[in-house]
Amino acid sequence: MRPVLGIDIGGSGIKGALVDLEKGEFCTDRLRIPTPEKSTPAKVAQVVARIVNSFAAEHDLGDDPVGITIPAVVTHGRTRSAANIDKSWIDAEAEQIFADKLGRRVVLVNDADAAGMAEVQYGAAKGHPGLVIVTTLGTGIGSALIYRGLLVPNTELGHLEIDGRDAESHASAGVKTNEGLKYSEYVPRLQRYYSHLESLFWPDLIVVGGGISRSHHKFLPKLELKTPIIPAELRNRAGIIGAAWLAVDAQSHPDPLG
Ligand code: BGC
Repeated sequence: MRPVLGIDIGGSGIKGALVDLEKGEFCTDRLRIPTPEKSTPAKVAQVVARIVNSFAAEHDLGDDPVGITIPAVVTHGRTRSAANIDKSWIDAEAEQIFADKLGRRVVLVNDADAAGMAEVQYGAAKGHPGLVIVTTLGTGIGSALIYRGLLVPNTELGHLEIDGRDAESHASAGVKTNEGLKYSEYVPRLQRYYSHLESLFWPDLIVVGGGISRSHHKFLPKLELKTPIIPAELRNRAGIIGAAWLAVDAQSHPDPLG
């Protein structure tokens, strides 16, 4: 099978790589271009086009779709929310905007859904037969809910209201940095968050990703939960790998409402 291009749109960088979907690994270096200051759909699409063109110049992409992640709710190709990105994404026909700019088929997915599927296909939860929740702790909190390998998209569990607050505004890794919290101050916030998540969904496994998961030994062992909670394995490769995987998967399961 030909490698598939995955692109991960983040707050500070837009990254792409060709993915070997048999192995769940990059088969090229990752190309990263900073996210434009005012990250509107048109400006982001320009950067994505630079990345795609640069891979297309050196590799045969055939007519495979390009998988793209975005930190927003995505339903039927349209972005519906914009918690940590430019508000002009709300209700944008984003998948079409990318497809028009690239002249290629595009599958646009939520960033945490992509990272979650990658972890279940190839990473920390590989082949898990039960209910897995993957959370990404970054600027926001992203979530993926995967039951017996099937993704329930756009769960947005970072926006659970806990103690009258949007959970991600209190417990994301970005908040830890912004408020200069020590782990001893941050762990109780994570404890409250994951206990709540557990009491609502009763997952079989929780996987924690996002940049901070590199330091998992500083907080995961301190959490007291009924559910096993483990660090993600694919780290900052998960979004790109999951985007490529979901792009191919969408070909065999076309959206009947799309
Ligand atoms: C957004 C989600 C996204 C998460 C991680 C949240 O603020 O609402 O869509 O997955 O951040 O980027």
